[in-house]
Parts: sequence; structure tokens; C-alpha cells
Amino acid sequence: MNAKEITEILIKNDQAHLIPYLTAPDGTENAALIRQLEAVDWSFLGYLKKDKKRAGEIRPLGAMTLDQIEVNRELYTSLGISAIQKGELALLLLAGGQGTRLGYNKPKGCFNIGLTRELFIFELLIEHTMDVVRQADAWIPLYIMTSLGNREDTVSFFKKHEYFGYNPDYIHFFVQEQNPATDFDGHILMASPESLALSPNGNGGWFSSMEHAGIIPKLTERGTKWINVFAVDNVLQRIADPVFLGATVASGKMSGAKVVYKASPDEKVGAMCTMDGRPHIIEYYELSKEMEEQRTADGNLAYGYGVILNYLFPIERLKRTLEAELPLHVVKKTVPFLDPDGKMVYPDEPNAYKYETLALDLISEMDDCLVYEVEREKEFAPVKNKSGTDSIDTARELLKKNGYVL
Ligand code: UTP
Repeated sequence: MNAKEITEILIKNDQAHLIPYLTAPDGTENAALIRQLEAVDWSFLGYLKKDKKRAGEIRPLGAMTLDQIEVNRELYTSLGISAIQKGELALLLLAGGQGTRLGYNKPKGCFNIGLTRELFIFELLIEHTMDVVRQADAWIPLYIMTSLGNREDTVSFFKKHEYFGYNPDYIHFFVQEQNPATDFDGHILMASPESLALSPNGNGGWFSSMEHAGIIPKLTERGTKWINVFAVDNVLQRIADPVFLGATVASGKMSGAKVVYKASPDEKVGAMCTMDGRPHIIEYYELSKEMEEQRTADGNLAYGYGVILNYLFPIERLKRTLEAELPLHVVKKTVPFLDPDGKMVYPDEPNAYKYETLALDLISEMDDCLVYEVEREKEFAPVKNKSGTDSIDTARELLKKNGYVL
């Protein structure tokens, strides 16, 4: 496209303020910016006006509890290990986040959580995966999604640390897509005279980013059936967990989600439920007080199983989600931008909207889901904040409780 064609698109989408940037100071076309604008999927602007509340009948969804898992542990383990040995499992580490709450300027996985020695978050995740690699005596392909901004730091960190002992032939990096950030009126912000203020498009677009990176045909060819998706910041999670995989296979359900029983009815985690009969994750702020307190016949909280961002998805079904439009979530964030006078502004308060898809919305694309309970103290140590809840300190305490020397 040339500047004239892009100008028309900008006018149509109420972005005329960007027109002056299409021409560089020397009078030539600003080719880099035009390329960025060509790639924009303008449907994101529709989300500013739409009523984003998803509607439907919400009902509780029970879990396979710790006791039930324990009774069948042997069977599930052997099913899971056998699937891994047959190459049916691939892993996907979501590492494209910006970690703004942690306030650490490198990829979160590069954070050293050790106290008397170096112990990086990426290293811990690899250690957890190696436990299963040894148990199955088979390497498991590990895909790592980064953002454009943190790709280089992530890849060079792994190289520098020799992949923490993982077989590099089985580690693959790919980059997630980006969306422009806008001001609160929906006008796209500029990060420099040559570039829009772009940011990662959330953690829900991983499958389509994998598809764009040409990975899906390779997985299909290799006979991969399942993808275990997990976040970078839960330092205790079990990855490629053969018991979880085996239980999901044995259940005959289409997908699986690891959950912890809530610490309190109002804990700020998304809870598993169904919406109009399909699996669904209801955000904590969408639960009414009554639903928060609601109990099932056995006395447990009806919406008591909180997700920890560790899912099993079947690749064949995921392919069908490529045509589905995942909801975009509009989130307020602090985004530096170029003002109309050409000066950079670094706001202290949220000044912009970012447009993100979320991994949890993929669950609603599945026909059903095995809700699989794990022990909070053993598998849930998120590193989100600098201090307080879900922080480096709380994660360190949990690691120590689990026998890690920090
Ligand atoms: P969070 O929702 O905690 O977001 O990500 P974040 O960007 O890391 O942190 P804050 O909110 O700015 O503090 C949960 C998981 O999803 C990944 C993160 O890397 C983390 O593993 N993620 C998030 C992506 O891969 N891409 C994104 O665009 C956003």
C-alpha cells in the first residue's frame, strides 16, 4: 500500500492524526510506519464501543479432586508417560508478557529468584520439565512465545545458560503478534515518529501466532495431539505433568485445566464454571457476592476452583479456533507516547488502552474440560508483584517449603 491508500484507511478509522507521520522530514514516504499500519487488524477498535460483557447461563463445574486423582495416580501416570513417549505432547511457555507489576526491565523468566545462589525463573521451569523428561526418557518439544520486544533478551539468555541442560533441538522460540495502544478516545499513540506504540496482543493469541510461524504443520506431522500451555511466572508449577495428561486422556474430555481450591470465597482468581453448558472461566469481578458464597451439596464452594494458567488443549480442536474470533479485552495501562509537538511523554498514571486476547477464553472454545485439582502449596507460587501477595517474597517462601535451596 502507498501513503494515499493508507490515508484513506486512517480517515475511515478516525485516525487522521497519524496522517502527518506518513511523510518523513525529507519528504519521502515513511515506509516503516506504512508497513506497521498495513498489518493492523482494525476490528480491535470495535471493542471500545461494544458491550464486552459475555452473557449466558453460568453454572458451577465440579473438579476431579486431589483424592480422586490419588486413587488413580498409577494408571494416569502410565497413560501420560506413554503419550509423551509417543510424542503426543508439546509444551508452550507463554513468555511474551511485559511484567509491568513486577517492574523488572528484563523478561520475567530472567529474574534471579535465588538468594545465596543464582536460580533463574526460566531455570526452574526447565528443571521441572526435566523431571518428566527423565521419567519418560524422552525429550518433549518446548515452544517459547516471546514478544517482539523481549525476544532477543530471551533467546540470548537461554543460549548463554546453555538452555539449562535442555536439548536445544527441542526448544523453539516464536514471536507473538502486536496491537497498537490508543488513548481513551481510541486514537492510536505513536512511540516515535517512525513507529506506532505497539504492544503484545495478550496471551490468548498464541495458537494463531504459532500458526503464522509455521509451527502447526510440523506438530501435526510429528503426531502431536496435546499442547500443555503454561505461564512463565508460576515457579512451582508442574509442567508436562504425566498425571494431568493421563487423567485428561482417561476422562475422555476435550481439554484440561489445572485448578487450586480457593483460599477464600473472594480470592481474586478466575473460577471454572460452565456458560450455556460449555466450559468457561468466570473472572472474580464477574461473580456476585451470592455466587462467591454459594456451596454445593458436599459443602464446597460452587465456584471454588481457581485457574492457574496451566491447560491441556487438543491440537485438532485448536485448529478450528483459528476461525473463531476470541474476545478482545480492553485494559488500561501506562504507555509512553509522542505528543503532537514531537515530545516524548512518560505518564505516571494509566493513560492508554491496550487490546488483548486471553488464554482463558480458549477454554470456552472447547466442548468440555477436565477440571483437575492440584495442591496450592505444591504447585502455585505466582510471581506477579514486587511485594505483598503473589510476589517474589511469597514465591520464595513457597519454594523453600518445597525443599528448594535458594
Ligand atoms: P500476565 O497477565 O501476568 O501479564 O501474564 P504480564 O504482562 O506478564 O504482567 P503485568 O500484568 O504487566 O504485570 C500471564 C502470562 O501470560 C504471558 C506472560 O508472560 C505470563 O506468562 N503473556 C502475557 C504473554 O505471553 N503475552 C502477553 O501479551 C501477555
